[in-house]
Amino acid sequence: MAGGVGSRFWPLSKASYPKQFHDILGAGETLIERTFGRLSQTVPADNVLVLTNEKYKALVNEQLPKVKDQNIVLEPAMRNTAPCILLAALKIYKNNPDAVMIVAPSDHWIEDEKSFLNNLETGFKACEQDTSEEKLLVTLGIEPTFPHTGYGYIQYTAGDSAVKQVKAFKEKPDYETAKQFLAEGNYSWNAGIFIWSAKAIIEAFEKYLPEMYALFNSGYDALNTDAEAAFIAENYAKAENISIDYGILEKSKNVGVIPATFDWSDLGAWGALYDNLEKDEAENVVVNARCIKKDVRGNLIRSDKGKVVVVEGLEDYIIVDSKDVLVIMPKSKEQDVKLMRAAVAEQFGED
Ligand code: GDD
Ligand code: MG
Repeated sequence: MAGGVGSRFWPLSKASYPKQFHDILGAGETLIERTFGRLSQTVPADNVLVLTNEKYKALVNEQLPKVKDQNIVLEPAMRNTAPCILLAALKIYKNNPDAVMIVAPSDHWIEDEKSFLNNLETGFKACEQDTSEEKLLVTLGIEPTFPHTGYGYIQYTAGDSAVKQVKAFKEKPDYETAKQFLAEGNYSWNAGIFIWSAKAIIEAFEKYLPEMYALFNSGYDALNTDAEAAFIAENYAKAENISIDYGILEKSKNVGVIPATFDWSDLGAWGALYDNLEKDEAENVVVNARCIKKDVRGNLIRSDKGKVVVVEGLEDYIIVDSKDVLVIMPKSKEQDVKLMRAAVAEQFGED
């Protein structure tokens, strides 16, 4: 899934060039390139579908040359994650009714690929062996560390099984509820990485989002043929704007969670990048810049490759220099980036 905007990574991430297409980490690869690299160790490139907005086609072609055009689903409108997942599931099912699929965001940070692939393997096996009437949907769970309100919370039954039975799934609870969940224990954060058979998720849509199911299933004959693009262009925007988490996972009666054995971040905002990268002796993180620092501590400094940045007398700041916008803000204000972006759009017409 590569259709989001990642607006809290402004001014680098923009509607015209979102986060997943940037080398946010300064690692020599963009986030979507890294995601593809990770997943193609278990899924042949021919079986990778990229779901994105039509305006990002050129970026996908450029960054993922191994993904053929017929495997890139171009959405004419942003409708959150449920519609694109249903469409992908129908395409996969038509190609192979027994297929098990992974659904993954394109913009997450995962270092330990071996553990990640092991967790996926556990999920594949569980889905292949599942004989339940309402078929199993598996998600990867992250040990929560604070009451983050931007995540899904998964309450599971404690025990030794590799895939734990989920009692309840609550998407983006308010702060008090999240605090309560943490105090209670036996909750995971939803990593937003799912494993299920194409059949299982299609049946879940049929049951819990029947209108969306009917809408896309009406074009089943067109999928994976030359008629697909026209069907999507005409019908996609009619789908309800809803995430898979609210639309399916909160309602399904057979969800399993695999506790992730790898470190994970959804790189939600600049502070998350700071948290996940190596610091110098004064706790600064420098990405891409050639930096001269004096009397500085706890800052994130990011620029275009090789730019010389000189900083003196600054603590706990974020400095992000992009091609056309430079932002300097205290780390504590990272959530205000959306407001800054809106102000710049209004005054200067930048996206
Ligand atoms: N193709 C497509 N079309 N992709 C989309 C769209 C869309 O309209 N909207 C979002 N995406 C992509 C984003 O680019 C991202 O890779 C992924 O889908 C998830 O969307 P987010 O918008 O980032 O979701 P979220 O962070 O609010 O919440 C989800 O992820 C959390 C973990 O990071 C949920 O699954 C939460 O439960 C979860 O905790
Ligand atoms: Mg996200």
